[in-house]
Order: sequence, then C-alpha cells, then structure tokens
Amino acid sequence: APIQPPDFNECGKVLPDGTTTPINCCPPVDLTIDDYKLPPTPNELRVRPAAQCVTDDYLAKYNKAVSLMKTIPDDDPRSFMKQANVHCSYCEGAFHQIDHKDLIIQVHSSWLFFPFHRWFLYFYERILGKLIDDPTFALPFWNYDSSPGMQIPAIFTDKNSSIYNKLRNPNHQPPTVMDLNWSGTDSTTQNNEDLIAANLNTMYRHVSVERVPHNIVHNWTGDPRQHGEDMGNFYSASRDSIFFAHHANVDRLWTIWKGLGGSRKDPTDTDWLDTGSGAGSSEQAKEVEDEENRPKKSRTKKEKEDEEEVLVIDGI
Ligand code: C2O
Repeated sequence: APIQPPDFNECGKVLPDGTTTPINCCPPVDLTIDDYKLPPTPNELRVRPAAQCVTDDYLAKYNKAVSLMKTIPDDDPRSFMKQANVHCSYCEGAFHQIDHKDLIIQVHSSWLFFPFHRWFLYFYERILGKLIDDPTFALPFWNYDSSPGMQIPAIFTDKNSSIYNKLRNPNHQPPTVMDLNWSGTDSTTQNNEDLIAANLNTMYRHVSVERVPHNIVHNWTGDPRQHGEDMGNFYSASRDSIFFAHHANVDRLWTIWKGLGGSRKDPTDTDWLDTGSGAGSSEQAKEVEDEENRPKKSRTKKEKEDEEEVLVIDGI
C-alpha cells in the first residue's frame, strides 16, 4: 500500500548520527493542512541557472531572498529553520508510518527520494520568490556532472552572504575539485585532470543518482570534524543553502535521465503514484495563490509532462 502522510501529533525527537543529544525537528502541530492544488502554468516559467554561471543581479536577488527568509521568526513554517526541519523530520525517524507503527518514514534509500525532494524544493523556491516578490525566481543548480561545476560553487563561499555556511569541510573549498568517488579520505595521487575524468566516468556509469553522486556530494561537503554537519548529516543538511543547489541538480538529473528514453521511465505502480506527501501546509499554499489567478497559456508538451509528474504524487 502507498505510504501515508504522518500524524503530526505523533512526532518524536530524533537522535542524529554521531550525536548524543536528541533534537526536536517536528513541524508545528496547529497547522491547517489543505489539499494542495497545482496552479496553472504561469506566464513566465522559472528557469534554474547553473550556480557557476549566475549573473550579479541574480546573485543579489538570491541573497536577498535567503536573508529575508532568515529574518522570519522561528515559529513560522516558512522560516529558514522550520524549512530545514522539514528535511530532518522526514529522514531521521521523527514519524512512524500510520499503517505500520513499527516502521519510520524515511524518504531516502527508497522510491520516495526523487518526489519528496522535488516537492521540498518546489515550495522552498516559491517561498523565496514570494519574499522578493519575484514569481520567476528559481534556485541555482550545482552542476557537478560537468567539469566547471565540480567544486563548491563560489557563490556559496562569500562569508558576508546569506547563503554562506561555515559548517563545511575546510579541505574542500574551491578551487578543490570534487571527488565523486570520495569515501572519506582525499586522494593524494590524483591530479585535477584525473579527478575530473574519474568524475565524468562515474556520472556516465552511475545513474542511480541517490547513492552516487548524491550521497557522495553530501558527505564530501560536510565537515567531518562535526559529525558531517551540515551537509553530511540528514538532520542538518538543509541548514546549508548549498543543499538546495545540490537537489536542484538531482531534480535536473532525474529529468535528464527520463529524456534518455528506452526503459528510463518513472514507476507506474500505484504504491508510488498514490504516496501521501504531507509536506504542504496552508501557509505554503498561500504562496502560490497569486499564481493561481494567472491566465493559463498554451503549454508545451514538456511543460504538460512536468505538471503531470508533480500531479501523480499529489497526496493529502
Ligand atoms: Cu534528503 Cu540530499 O538528501
């Protein structure tokens, strides 16, 4: 049977990997949760730029949006921490499955991986766009499948910007080339060219996406001296803005994979299609009200497909 949304009243504290103090990343329980209805396709689509290619204007907007999000009080579901906790609560065992109390809800290592994170970014991006009053705002993607993107994007390393995060591996700062086969130790024998070639090879072979490159990118980015925080530990990963660039690329790789044709198609099993999401809140739904009133323009085949993709996983 499809996995149901959790009971928010039965959320528990979690004990993140390698840590000793349980933390509470539960969502507020007094939320009214409405069925989320996908708005009509807006006049202008959001286009996600590669993080290494953004313009100064774009960067200023992105920084502003995130700094505004950081000023939202903590008890507001749209705040930076509450949003980061969405991820924490769905991957550290805060919730049990409604029909199987012995099982936790875990959106990783399963077919929930792609749709959960796509939804998460979908709302996150809309909140940011709303904060700067730009309905076309789109997150940047971390283009680590191509050599110019195989390092921490420079935009995330400016200490004075809102998207900077200090909890990252100090040895992996740009221009250090990423190692998509990283297993905890830095290679001392590979030069940059070798590394890039090995990475390209890995991308060619491994379109499992979640385990490689996704997990590797998380672990490679986090600070090993702090239980992998932020990126390398589930509970804290989305406290780093780079998380959203990472997942914007995962979203992109999902789309590219399907475009390769053949048997590369999404599952058609209703256990997957009817999964309940439970992640949308009425607050978040408000963010898209404006867009709901926009006139529908004639959509391209690709846009229709994208819409269907989201619709099929629409849950509660
Ligand atoms: Cu939910 Cu990249 O992990």
